[in-house]
Amino acid sequence: MNILGIDVGGSGIKGAPVDLDKGDFAVDRLRIPTPSKSSPQNVAEVVGQICEHFTDHIGTDSRIGLTIPAPVVHGRIPFIANLHKSWAGLQADEFFQDALGRPVTLVNDADGAGLAEVHFGAAKGNEGLVLMTTLGTGIGTAMIHRGVLVPNAELGHVELNGHDAETRAASSIKESEKLSYKVWAKERLQPYYAHLEMLFSPDLFVVGGGVSKDSEKFLPLLDLKTPIVPAVLRNRAGIIGAALAARDANEHPGH
Ligand code: BGC
Repeated sequence: MNILGIDVGGSGIKGAPVDLDKGDFAVDRLRIPTPSKSSPQNVAEVVGQICEHFTDHIGTDSRIGLTIPAPVVHGRIPFIANLHKSWAGLQADEFFQDALGRPVTLVNDADGAGLAEVHFGAAKGNEGLVLMTTLGTGIGTAMIHRGVLVPNAELGHVELNGHDAETRAASSIKESEKLSYKVWAKERLQPYYAHLEMLFSPDLFVVGGGVSKDSEKFLPLLDLKTPIVPAVLRNRAGIIGAALAARDANEHPGH
């Protein structure tokens, strides 16, 4: 069965029907730029367009999965770092269900990506503790132990040398401060990953986000005890993870 997964990001909103037997898109994805005022209303309008575009594949009343770049606690967004501030406090599951007229499952973007990597990607079959990190506008993290997600780990906001870690180590900061891969890796990523390693003793770090396509330029510069590998699903992970979360909600209603 195909389930529509939609990944809401700071610059683009991307969706595709996902074939969850294969762990890949059933047809090409559609990307629409995120409205410059990224309020829930404006985002819902774009999400509605994406649903409509794929009606032939998913029908009009099937559940869809949606990633959000914020924690999603029982459908509610407690705070938001990188979209319009009016998301904070929103009961977003009800809001999207009303706006779209179909059941909607929301999941944090990094949690979605982590689920996808554990099911189909770089952490497939890992029986230990996997820490997924996505390096982008901010830093998203997912904690998955023996295949089970511990939702809403916000480890992009741990304090690092007196700063919110994502404001030092996200790939957007590499860009805005024009840091070389070497400086970014040694001065920003190294202390960040060493700190997570000390706190959680993971078995594997997976590094996603757009910059992971250049992973050979920075991952080998890190000195960690824990293996650290690039994500393999790249920019498909969020969409596939959103669809996985929606399937889980169909199979375990009420959770
Ligand atoms: C948010 C996380 C999100 C990450 C990546 C952070 O600022 O707090 O919820 O996963 O950015 O988008």
